[in-house]
Amino acid sequence: SMRRLREDRERLRALTVAGHEPAIERQHGLGKRTARERLEMLLDDGSFIEIEMFRRHQAHGLKLGGNRPATDGVVAGSGTVYGRRVFVYAQDFTVFGGSLGQAHASKIHKVMDLALENGAPLIGLNDSGGARIQEGVMALDGYGGIFRRNVEASGVIPQISVILGPCAGGAAYSPALTDFTFMVRDTAQMYLTGPDVVEAVSGKRVTHAELGGADVHGGRTGVATFVYDDEETCLEEVRYLLSLLPSNNVEPAPAAARTGATADERPRLAEIVPVEPNKPYDMRQVITELVDDEEFIELHENWAPNVICAFGRIDGEVAGVVANQPMVLAGVLDADAAQKAARFVRFCDAFGIPLVTLVDVPGFLPGVDQEHAGVIRHGAKLLYAYCEATVPRIQVIIRKAYGGAYIVMDSRSIGCDLSLAWPTNEIAVMGAEGAVNVLFRKELIAAADPAALRTELIEEYSAQLMHPYYAAERGLVDDVIDPARTRSVVARGLEMLREKRKPAPRRKHGNTPL
Ligand code: COA
Repeated sequence: SMRRLREDRERLRALTVAGHEPAIERQHGLGKRTARERLEMLLDDGSFIEIEMFRRHQAHGLKLGGNRPATDGVVAGSGTVYGRRVFVYAQDFTVFGGSLGQAHASKIHKVMDLALENGAPLIGLNDSGGARIQEGVMALDGYGGIFRRNVEASGVIPQISVILGPCAGGAAYSPALTDFTFMVRDTAQMYLTGPDVVEAVSGKRVTHAELGGADVHGGRTGVATFVYDDEETCLEEVRYLLSLLPSNNVEPAPAAARTGATADERPRLAEIVPVEPNKPYDMRQVITELVDDEEFIELHENWAPNVICAFGRIDGEVAGVVANQPMVLAGVLDADAAQKAARFVRFCDAFGIPLVTLVDVPGFLPGVDQEHAGVIRHGAKLLYAYCEATVPRIQVIIRKAYGGAYIVMDSRSIGCDLSLAWPTNEIAVMGAEGAVNVLFRKELIAAADPAALRTELIEEYSAQLMHPYYAAERGLVDDVIDPARTRSVVARGLEMLREKRKPAPRRKHGNTPL
């Protein structure tokens, strides 16, 4: 009867508050929250709908038979973020160390399928000892099912991984396949083989953090897109990122109210950028002037900081900004920067987010290290990504744009829709001095006064090839603009291109130089 049903439900509900008290206390002691506390922080109040909460493993292996907590160590379901639907799973370290067995994996598979079928973002909160050892190959099979679904959903729904504890071995490949990976300092680690194995193999002792902590992945490897000090900030930033992303690849990113950007003059822009071509400045200040509310979110802030990738809004609409950063390595492109920007360009293209590319680039970073690191292969990724992109694309040449790096940074030749240049633009194969040395080597050696001749030739080269309208006269730049008008001209350009459609030719898929 009704009473019986109510009692049963209460008994079973108690079961779902999985994890023993000591395990929860230990989790809190480490500065970590439980799976359910995390879901409360991530989702709108009261919006969570849980699936398969009574699920338990059906395995019998070592020590497992008598221990069958509900949820099987992962809380899965759906909720909303700023009113928009998302699907989510949160691994619960207090149950079997969040380790992944068959039941655990199949709950994740279920929620991934629901996310894809409903065209809503998927968020995975990872905190796990990895494959549940007692379940053997069934655990490995569970991971494979996650990876396959990550790839199936790639470019259809945004996928976000949040690492809030260990994420080791095969487990690390799901975040690597998703679009964005968040990590928390001190508590999150990712690696394929842990410190013990590393020591056994190499004799080198490393800590978890040294091997795969948040700063290692945020700064050295590029595995982490965002790094934060604590879980609250991290989950709040996940919410902010979601507010800028479309739910899927056929819906537009959520627009905010228009801000009057199309008529907005920003005189400060001309002060931020020095006229001297070699003087550094912080490109983030330029982006701040271009976006609404001076607000944007930067990806990979500490990895390849010589290029900036950021989401912001311009006149209410979300745009992806790719920009050289003259403050770091003079803003050159290198292998890491090319990979970082390429992945960003591909995300924006897959999800219909227009691209604004701010160019101030002296070229690719010269050096044996770079060449031997395969900068040709990595640079090609960025080139490929731009060439392939069919979203609205606006290039703004702020100052320098030299050689191959000019071509790669969304030049007209590879398909930008609108190219704008400041009057200080220098677009050329190389700088005047280098050019003169190559072209007039013999003349300079033979000259009575080489210094005077060099100065004369440099002036001649500059006058002929480097005046602000050289590229515009040849159709490679659409307009030479007053820097103060950059925000308004870009906003008007994006408005012009809003309905852009460019169907791709039929093929299975291209062969991007991975
Ligand atoms: N399979 C089954 N149980 C696991 C597990 C796994 N992969 N990882 C952790 N657990 C269990 C532990 O046995 C422990 O259970 P208990 O509370 O009943 O004793 C519980 O989860 C907590 O783990 P513990 O080792 O006490 O936590 P920790 O914070 O000290 O260490 C790890 C965390 C992840 C570093 C450690 O558990 C570990 O090395 N796990 C194995 C990682 C691995 O190699 N996984 C396979 C890779 S695919």
